[in-house]
Amino acid sequence: MKVAIVGGSFDPVHLGHLQMAHQAKEQLGVSQVWFLPTKKTPLKDRQLTDDQDRLAMLKMALEPYPDYKVCTIELEREGTSYTVDTLKELHARYPDHEFFWLIGNDQLEQFDRWKEPDTLVCLAQFVCFDRDGKLGNTAYPIRRIHMVPMPVSSSEIRRGKKLNYLAPQVLDYIYQHRLYLKGFLEERLKPKRVAHSFSVAKLCEEFACAHDLDPNRAYLIGCFHDIAKNMTEAEMKPWMEILCPENMHYPCPVWHGFVASEIVDRIFGIHDFQIRQAIYHHVLGTSTDPYAMIIFCADKLDPLRGYPVQKQIDLVKQDLLQGFWMVKEENQKYLEGKE
Ligand SMILES: [Fe+2]
Ligand SMILES: [Fe+2]
Repeated sequence: MKVAIVGGSFDPVHLGHLQMAHQAKEQLGVSQVWFLPTKKTPLKDRQLTDDQDRLAMLKMALEPYPDYKVCTIELEREGTSYTVDTLKELHARYPDHEFFWLIGNDQLEQFDRWKEPDTLVCLAQFVCFDRDGKLGNTAYPIRRIHMVPMPVSSSEIRRGKKLNYLAPQVLDYIYQHRLYLKGFLEERLKPKRVAHSFSVAKLCEEFACAHDLDPNRAYLIGCFHDIAKNMTEAEMKPWMEILCPENMHYPCPVWHGFVASEIVDRIFGIHDFQIRQAIYHHVLGTSTDPYAMIIFCADKLDPLRGYPVQKQIDLVKQDLLQGFWMVKEENQKYLEGKE
């Protein structure tokens, strides 16, 4: 059997990886494509997401394709994995298989730095896919094929960009397991606001647990409630004009809640009505939906604000509605004091 191998960290796997597999299958005439997640890439220093998470996302993304498999050979091995050891083991396990190992242009240029490159080219047919027509030179017998790339990378996804290039189940997994959230927030918010968002998220989760609500939904509301906070008036204006022109009479600092509720849906792919509603109302506290009350209280009672808040936090945990009215009243007084 002919098998093409796509190695990578798949942190996370996206539609660009699948596109690569579709094209490899077609052009190389292989019957299967194996996705081989790496444990640790010797030439990269970035700390990878946990093996189990990357593996779970990969399995979900490949589920609709019976000819695509996950090969965990490198994850099973201790220490640094070299391709030459992996290929030797693959030959030992599958003596009748013929392997095609896909590499990118950047890897082609570094090929002489790989461990035992002369052995490698005997163990598999290495295939370099050319994404931009600029193939580097190499002394090794490496086959070249042309691929039409998808304009997406895992690093963009880790920064909360192009999330529409993820399989919906994978995006759902990311939110359920709270992966990459720091990258999502850091891309759009200043460090102090990121710290506030995570602190509020933790408090939202505690409040949700105290009232038998979904702790993960509450955590996500806390994470994203201020996602529009660093946008300028000019940036928010077009969103406001489409979304809720009736709210444009509010002072600009109030707008970020309305805009954020749309951003979580359109940019972050969170299509959850309660999350959107809670974020929408978080600035003014204009909803008594339980999640809306939770975020309103958690935002005002964030311990990072530096006020003594334990008594109020305890009250919100005991009685959400009463706690909400108390926080709202105190907030009203504070705003009146500030005119
Ligand atoms: Fe806010
Ligand atoms: Fe906030």
